Amino acid sequence: MAEITQKKGFLGRLMQLPNDDPKKTIFIAIVLCLVCSVMVSTAAVSLKSRQVVNQKNDIRQNILAVTDQFEPGMDMEAAFEQFEVRLVDLANGQYADTDIDPATYDQRKAAGSPDLGVRLENQQDVAGIGSRAKYAPVYILRDGDEIQQLVIPIHGYGLWSTMYGFLSLGSDFNTIQGLRFYEHAETPGLGGEIENPRWLAKWEGKKIYDENGNVAFRVARGYVDNNLPQAEYKVDGLSGATLTSKGVSNMISFWLGEDGFGPYLQSLRSERGNN
Ligand SMILES: Cc1cc2nc3c(=O)[nH]c(=O)nc-3n(C[C@H](O)[C@H](O)[C@H](O)COP(=O)(O)O)c2cc1C
Repeated sequence: MAEITQKKGFLGRLMQLPNDDPKKTIFIAIVLCLVCSVMVSTAAVSLKSRQVVNQKNDIRQNILAVTDQFEPGMDMEAAFEQFEVRLVDLANGQYADTDIDPATYDQRKAAGSPDLGVRLENQQDVAGIGSRAKYAPVYILRDGDEIQQLVIPIHGYGLWSTMYGFLSLGSDFNTIQGLRFYEHAETPGLGGEIENPRWLAKWEGKKIYDENGNVAFRVARGYVDNNLPQAEYKVDGLSGATLTSKGVSNMISFWLGEDGFGPYLQSLRSERGNN
């Protein structure tokens, strides 16, 4: 019997052990883990290109939605072609003088890179993002030569997560046309209400800048009394989600302010005023 066991080798001997033997249990568990990890890795690698396409389409869908262009089942690639995509140098508010292709530019990656990222001082970092990219993409819808709608990417910290979205501005570069969030990890039903279409609809028509060109827009604490003169700069806060609401407010202050798109929007508004 001892002779037979020796001939079977290590694997044979292990498999001959009773099923409740700890050595056999551990061995089977290890084999199962290996098989599963190979399957998961293979799926992740083989689906990577589809994930990239889906992520790109998700971004496109949000840009189309924020400009009221999205319809279910539409050819998003074709619909997206109407947008002119440019990179803005946020420091001077001009279109970036660079060879980087805006179609493949990754603003998030750039924010963390030594060449393309800018670290934010504490007093600048109202959106709680640590650093921002030197260049940011903008998505322009024109009517002839005139910009009709301008979509800017915005992001900032809420209660649990960084919230990523797009804000669309009208041709005065001051009136909000739409807002959409496409990524966040706030609590569903509380901070997650930033995705609620009824809340987002309240943003439409609100103004960002006051007559002195300062960011006056805020997410209010509680409801906004529409009879008050400042109501055009305010949107209702989300009930039970004060911290997320504050995060959204701060995100707008940052991205529409001096360290965000402020200089770019200011130059567009001056150009428009001179036309
Ligand atoms: C499980 C759980 C999840 C929460 N999620 C959020 C959230 O996503 N956003 C938020 O602002 N507050 C959230 N809160 C509530 C905050 O902890 C905090 O109470 C609230 O933002 C403060 O609002 P208040 O000043 O109106 O009380 C959550 C609370 C709990 C217990």
